[in-house]
Formats: sequence, C-alpha cells, structure tokens
Amino acid sequence: MDPENDDQSYLGIGDRFQRETKYSVDHLGGYSLDWEHMPSPRKSYPSPLATIKLPESLSSQPQDIWDVFLRRKSIREYATKRTMPLALLSSLLWAAQGITGTQGGWSFRTVPSAGGLYPIETYVLSRAVEGLEEGIYHFRPHTFDLEFIFRGGFAGALANAALGQTMIREAQATFIWTAIVERSKWKYRQRAYRYIYIDVGHIAQNLYLAGTAAGVGVCAVGAFFDDDVNNLIGVDGTEETTVYLACVGLL
Ligand SMILES: Cc1cc2nc3c(=O)[nH]c(=O)nc-3n(C[C@H](O)[C@H](O)[C@H](O)COP(=O)(O)O)c2cc1C
Repeated sequence: MDPENDDQSYLGIGDRFQRETKYSVDHLGGYSLDWEHMPSPRKSYPSPLATIKLPESLSSQPQDIWDVFLRRKSIREYATKRTMPLALLSSLLWAAQGITGTQGGWSFRTVPSAGGLYPIETYVLSRAVEGLEEGIYHFRPHTFDLEFIFRGGFAGALANAALGQTMIREAQATFIWTAIVERSKWKYRQRAYRYIYIDVGHIAQNLYLAGTAAGVGVCAVGAFFDDDVNNLIGVDGTEETTVYLACVGLL
C-alpha cells in the first residue's frame, strides 16, 4: 500500500512540516535569542585559488520596470559561442544579492530576507565569462568579489546533476544558491526552512528581472539531484545545502 495515495488521513513529511511549523496566537515559538551565538551572514574560504574583485559599474542602461515585468520569461536557448563580459555577470550578482546600505551595524541587500539574516549563499559556475577561468566561484556580497574555489569545466557535470538539462551545458554561467541553515534556524527553528525558500525566490526573481533588463536569458532550475550538486560545490548538504539554481546565457 502507498500511504500517500491510498490513505487520505496519512500526512507526509511536507504536510507535517506545514502543520508543525505553523504560527498561531497560542503558539508563536517564543524563543529567546542567543545574541552571543548569532551566526555571521558572511562566508569566506580560508585559502581560495584566487579572489577576483568585481567591477562595480552596472552594465545595463536604465529601463522601465513595468516593461521589464512584462518581458520577463524563462529562456533556455543561448548563444553558446559568445563570452559574457565580467561587468555583466557582476551586475547580475549585484541585482541578486548586492549590498544597498548599512544601518546600526546591519547591512541590507537588493532583496528582502526574513529577520535580515541572509541565509543564502551564491556560487557561480563559470563556463564562458571574460576574465574568469572555467570553474566554481563563491560570491561575497560584502567585499563584492568572487572566491575561486574549484578549477575545471563542470558545466556538463552540473547539467547531469540537474537531471540532464542541456541549457546548463550551454549557459555562460549558472548560479547555484545554497542555504546556511543555522543562520535562519538560530531565530526561527524549524520554521526557518519556510523562510529560506521564500528568500531564495526573491533572489531568483531579481536575477530574472536584471537578466531581462540586460538582455540576458535566465532560467530557474529546481530539478536537481541534491547530493550531486552539493558534492560539486563542496558543501555538506546538511549545514549548507543547495536550494535552487539558475542559468544565465547570452542571446
Ligand atoms: C521553483 C521553480 C523551479 C523551476 N525549475 C525549472 C527547471 O528545473 N527547469 C526548467 O527548465 N524550468 C524550471 N522553472 C521555470 C518554469 O518552468 C517557468 O517559470 C514556467 O514554465 C513559467 O514560464 P516563464 O518563467 O517563462 O513565465 C522553474 C521555475 C520555478 C519557479
């Protein structure tokens, strides 16, 4: 018997998660926050292969945001032989996760984040970006740079890990978003997972809109073998785990 399909009273893990992480008037969590152990929203690698400072000037002309909404769509075919300028990748990274200001010791970004905790990290698989060797990079919003963490042509491996989706093989770059779960769990416990997925949705939408404005094809990817992607970028899948991907390709 398949309890999920045959027994209407059966609650699968998703149903239980939704139920057990509800807020209600008499159940709000009510945890006191341990400020001394608040996880840092900054991740850095101790000895990256290189650190690449990103250009800060935006590579796109001003545009009417209402028109950008209208034109946004998922694009899966790219001009595979072209190379993406670094300034363009830099603009897309800024749109997705750029720091917009600081206030009272907190820094804020182009996207909202539950509790201002910023659990999402951004990695970039570079296949054909000007000035970047092929490989995997980690983006640091606070210093606006890329840490080069793995050298090599991994687009084929990532495409295989994304259930064989060929657009990943052809995109100039693919964004890989992970969550450092404790950043959000520190405050929200199990409810943190709801907010992590909402946060990454905001980030991906900014990438879509920036891509549309800049004339770059973007396609979100939620279908992937989790362990394979985690292994590719060297995260453990528990404390830090991949939650979403997006291809970016020239048209
Ligand atoms: C959470 C999520 C996961 C997605 N995963 C994939 C995917 O794995 N592969 C793909 O080609 N498109 C994926 N998409 C894109 C959707 O197919 C696309 O947004 C939908 O068909 C609507 O088309 P539009 O984005 O052009 O409006 C995903 C979109 C979302 C929001």
